[in-house]
Amino acid sequence: LSVQILVLLAAYLIGSVSFGVVVSKLMGLADPHTYGSGNPGATNVLRTGNKKAALFTLLGDVGKGVLAVLLARWLAPSLGLSDMIIMLVGLAAFIGHLYPVFHGFKGGKGVATAGGVLLALNPLHGLAVLATWLAVAFLTRYSSLAAITAAFMAPIYWQLFYGIDARALVILFIAALLVWRHRENINRLLKGKESKIGGNKAPKP
Ligand code: G3P
Repeated sequence: LSVQILVLLAAYLIGSVSFGVVVSKLMGLADPHTYGSGNPGATNVLRTGNKKAALFTLLGDVGKGVLAVLLARWLAPSLGLSDMIIMLVGLAAFIGHLYPVFHGFKGGKGVATAGGVLLALNPLHGLAVLATWLAVAFLTRYSSLAAITAAFMAPIYWQLFYGIDARALVILFIAALLVWRHRENINRLLKGKESKIGGNKAPKP
């Protein structure tokens, strides 16, 4: 097994820790798969009304994306990891969140983890994507719409900053997967049935 594959596997395992599930368990809350949208993310944990649990979920899920990329960058000189491998480490952590081996492969939608990954890969680009999420969330109060818009803009910002390169394809792939994971949200948005941030009107899964 090459060292690159081991590094990608480690990133996947880091991403596989679902903080929505872990934090809920530690704080005595119900498993987020059982209420609201059924998603183990900060938005859904907030539907319990427990803001602290939602914040810890958010910080954990962002943090693991940041951690995976920073660890890879730290190890890069000694292990000979390329820039592209560091991008793929970010993707692996994101995929870990979506399909976590520790939680029966039932993961989340990857917004917080992708945010952490993007911020660590390139803070300027990450901040542009974060600003997009914040603007749409502030204007519409829809967490999902904010995420879908930010995902749509992320590859566009990347090209504005760096032109079209192979790394842009990784960003595009993360964005496409993220939108795919929001397909139920998109349906609800189109039907006007999506619940707003802090609301608890999401249908049971
Ligand atoms: O973080 C995921 C968010 O974009 C949507 O979450 O629970 O409303 O499906 P949820």
